[in-house]
Amino acid sequence: MDKFVIQGGKPLCGDVHVSGAKNAALPVLASALLAPGTSTFHNIPDLVDIKTIKKLLKNLGVEIEGGETVRINAEKITKSEAPYELVKTMRASVLVLGPLVARLGLARVSLPGGCAIGARPVNLHIKALQDLGAQVELNNGYIEARAKKLKGADIYFDIPTVTGTENIMMAAVLAEGTTVLNNSACEPEIVNLADVLKSMGAKISGAGSDVITIEGVTSLVPAEASIIPDRIEAGTFMIAAGMTSGEINILGCNPSHLEALVNKLRDTGMKITPVPGGLKASGGTKIRSVDVKTLPYPGFATDLQAQIMAYMSVGDGLSVVTETVFENRFMHVSELMRMGADIVIQGGSAIVRGVPALHGAQTMATDLRASASLLLAALVARGTTEISRVYHIDRGYQAIEKKFSALGADIKRIK
Ligand code: EPZ
Repeated sequence: MDKFVIQGGKPLCGDVHVSGAKNAALPVLASALLAPGTSTFHNIPDLVDIKTIKKLLKNLGVEIEGGETVRINAEKITKSEAPYELVKTMRASVLVLGPLVARLGLARVSLPGGCAIGARPVNLHIKALQDLGAQVELNNGYIEARAKKLKGADIYFDIPTVTGTENIMMAAVLAEGTTVLNNSACEPEIVNLADVLKSMGAKISGAGSDVITIEGVTSLVPAEASIIPDRIEAGTFMIAAGMTSGEINILGCNPSHLEALVNKLRDTGMKITPVPGGLKASGGTKIRSVDVKTLPYPGFATDLQAQIMAYMSVGDGLSVVTETVFENRFMHVSELMRMGADIVIQGGSAIVRGVPALHGAQTMATDLRASASLLLAALVARGTTEISRVYHIDRGYQAIEKKFSALGADIKRIK
């Protein structure tokens, strides 16, 4: 297993190009199952999770080629099963459920296990599929769904679920009649998917709001589209500029996807200004401690909570970081404390008392965004930090050590 060795203390300066968004690419690649023929998608990031979903789609019988531009020929789908050994490595594999039931009327998808950040149930995906008329059973750890023809329905999500909204949107586009998704998630990745589905011939309105209306059509045609930039990667680099008192041009990002973070970082004293092609993030003279509460989009992203906690651990006062989306997303706290952070967890909040400096330590990554927060802490810690199990990082960040080295960080990957 690879590890990173980082010498802290270097301010980061220069340009970084944001890759395509992992959480947009995953549902868009799955959507190719809906249209017989070859779809082409651009700006696909080079990530472990992308390799996983490609394996999964090949396992269903489709042909896939390409890297940053991917061509998927879904003329023939020879299987309708997403096996446990693939799904257990990536929960987002559940995103083939909706398309398979819509296209084939049949799907057998392993229940995704939990992960470090929580139980991650998919009960809302299943209930909504049943609302569309599918018979769904849970047998031996698998979701077994079948439907001669899905029927449009008025659906209400108890919680705004990102992949739940995506899964059901992909099921409803080929259903008979009208489907309304109420209390749906509003993330930009959902808008990207809706745009792709519309270019396939789907009739969707309201994506990006909490009410999405879908008029079912009888069939879809392949599409050519691009993946939006990764707002979480962009946000991670903005926070790095604040932590290291550096100045980074975040190129290729979409500023309208980052408003909650930009406002919060300005409150900490950072200067963030538009530049051609993106945003310039400059560290302030000091780091003002602020409170953060994660919420579904457009609120502050839970996927940036670990990163901003690392930033607040070197703030000038007290910061209360409240996680409202997942029940166990504080795995990074104990690792940050080993680097000298002063954090106390109280229920769903972490009380972060800023310290003058962190110190290097041997640490271990536990989940994707927790490992990003350790990397950020290591960039400012005094001395050497080692982060083991960096495969967690490789799942969601493309060549992150190369991007940070290009900005002046002293970071090495040790095989
Ligand atoms: C997506 O996960 C993202 N993954 C996550 O990013 C992100 O953290 C999350 O949305 C929230 O923004 C992808 O898009 C591939 P949810 P998802 O369904 O869809 C509960 C990363 O780091 N819930 O919006 O699985 C759930 O437990 C990953 O890139 C149910 O109870 O998240 C959670 O508390 C981590 N039942 C809340 O809803 C369900 O059926 C929101 O989860 C579904 C969800």
